[in-house]
Amino acid sequence: MIYIMTNKKPSQLTAHSTISLNNGIKMPIVGYGTWKILPNSSARKAVGSALSVGYRNIDTARIYLNEKGVGKAIQKSKVDRKELFVSTKLWNSDQGYDKTSKAFDKSLKRLGLDYVDMYLMHWPVPEKRLESWRAMVEIYKSGRAKAIGVCNFTEEHLADLISHSDIVPMVNQVEFHPFLYQKMLLEYCQENKIIVEAYSPLAHGRRMQDPVLCEIAAKHAKHVVQVMLRWNIQLGNVVIPKSTSLERMQDNLDLFDFELDKSDMEQIENLNENYRTCWDPTGM
Ligand SMILES: NC(=O)c1ccc[n+]([C@@H]2O[C@H](COP(=O)([O-])OP(=O)(O)OC[C@H]3O[C@@H](n4cnc5c(N)ncnc54)[C@H](OP(=O)(O)O)[C@@H]3O)[C@@H](O)[C@H]2O)c1
Repeated sequence: MIYIMTNKKPSQLTAHSTISLNNGIKMPIVGYGTWKILPNSSARKAVGSALSVGYRNIDTARIYLNEKGVGKAIQKSKVDRKELFVSTKLWNSDQGYDKTSKAFDKSLKRLGLDYVDMYLMHWPVPEKRLESWRAMVEIYKSGRAKAIGVCNFTEEHLADLISHSDIVPMVNQVEFHPFLYQKMLLEYCQENKIIVEAYSPLAHGRRMQDPVLCEIAAKHAKHVVQVMLRWNIQLGNVVIPKSTSLERMQDNLDLFDFELDKSDMEQIENLNENYRTCWDPTGM
């Protein structure tokens, strides 16, 4: 098991722990996902609640159509902007060198921010991703995105990108949960100092009844979702669960009063069945 990216042991982590990206920027290890939270008024309310219960890392995207609501919640919140880590993403139809810069400016405007903490490429669009990355590097160097990264990149996509750029992505946001344990990809990312940010870390809520997870949860007197999130964190990953319920938002942050042991970790790893709830970038 690898704990390379934080200097802390799993027992020392808290809901406010951060991980250092390869450029030194600190990213909270638990974030809040906002996919499917629509319309903007709902996103504003949900993100406002998430901030009030302690989330400091907020993940949105241009294609989620809720950047305005996310931005309003941030502006309304009493949390200092410097304490927040806000990510948004470049959508596929906006890829290409010129279009990327324009899409970024529009996202920033919708969010009502003068910088984002991270700008992510949403998908490894063939023929476009390298020129889009070139524009993202310029945005990063201008200081308007404190970090840049990618989503849904396989080892092959990453190797290709790295060989064409002096900037290694700081993050690869991919689907990652016990039923999709992407071990080789995780190892590749860790070797190259790329943080894996686990999306759909609860497998979209579809596998809550799994008997192995239920047994491990009972052993620690925790909920299955907390076991799923804790497993990802102990692997060195960032997690971004989504919930619109205040109680579940709190549950999804309550991960730091227990620790999975070696046997728990191994049993969970064995649940892998390459089960994807979202899209599959293999072969793109
Ligand atoms: N880059 C990409 O391509 C990509 C793709 C997919 C997702 N993402 C990001 O990752 C985030 C998370 O992924 P996701 O939204 O797909 O799925 P997820 O976080 O794995 O699961 C969300 C589902 O689980 C339920 N849930 C949440 N907490 C729960 C709890 N404590 N107990 C029981 N059920 C619970 C939610 O329902 P309620 O809301 O009713 O609680 C919702 O139906 C997204 O919101 C998005 O920001 C990125």
